[in-house]
Amino acid sequence: MIDYRPMPSAPSIVVDKLRIRRGGVIVLDDLSLAVASGRVTGLLGPSGSGKTTLMRAIVGVQIVESGTIAVLGEPAGTPPLRWKVGYMTQNPAVYGDLTVRENLRYFARILDAAPESVDEVLETVAMTSFAGRVVNKLSGGQRARVSLATALIGSPELLVLDEPTVGLDPVLRRDLWKTFNELAEQGKTLLVSSHVMDEADHCHDLLLLREGKLVATGSPADVRAQSGKQDLDEAFLVLINEEVE
Ligand SMILES: Nc1ncnc2c1ncn2[C@@H]1O[C@H](COP(=O)(O)OP(=O)(O)OP(=O)(O)O)[C@@H](O)[C@H]1O
Ligand SMILES: [Mg+2]
Repeated sequence: MIDYRPMPSAPSIVVDKLRIRRGGVIVLDDLSLAVASGRVTGLLGPSGSGKTTLMRAIVGVQIVESGTIAVLGEPAGTPPLRWKVGYMTQNPAVYGDLTVRENLRYFARILDAAPESVDEVLETVAMTSFAGRVVNKLSGGQRARVSLATALIGSPELLVLDEPTVGLDPVLRRDLWKTFNELAEQGKTLLVSSHVMDEADHCHDLLLLREGKLVATGSPADVRAQSGKQDLDEAFLVLINEEVE
């Protein structure tokens, strides 16, 4: 018999029984999850729930105690992934004494990316008119966008973005979420963390973390159904406050 059902594309990230200890404390415990390809997945959870730790493990800069992480079919952090994964850290990782364009050129050189990619990513984050400005003279939100631009250099397949919209005004936040969705339409996979629950509606899939464990997964509609609340803020409060079994 031939199976005519469409084959779901393989997930971009598969985490299996991950356990991570930081400062002697277990911060992720027996965590298993998958992140679908070509979609925007929101990684949500209160401060300290382990979002950054999970992202660090996915990009390969975090010591893992046990469990496995496969990224685009390869073990996390291995050389074949170098050009395929873009990472935006929670604190803008850009050089303050260089201009916006100099920063991006520097990252493009490291990644062997075409020089034109600098102009492309500047446009994507709406920073073209600030290209000649020294980063230290930018606002916090502008600096965050330069940091985001560095993750976009070289057009990686997977983007891991740690709170990219924090500190941005509502208009910019909406524009950035639109950009994330456009990138997904082009076939990119995005994992985006946030502790602002109202951003969840911009995501196709959600992962809700509490104290290093997943308390909910699925689409925003699934999360509403699971919690019995229409308002996602309330839905998350219900799920976050449920008794730990
Ligand atoms: N360098 C470190 N050394 C020891 N413990 C750490 C370190 N960084 C984070 N932790 C601990 O690991 C846990 C998870 O932290 P993590 O930064 O992953 O949370 P988060 O969900 O990203 O929080 P936030 O929303 O505030 O960014 C927290 O309990 C935190 O105190
Ligand atoms: Mg964090």
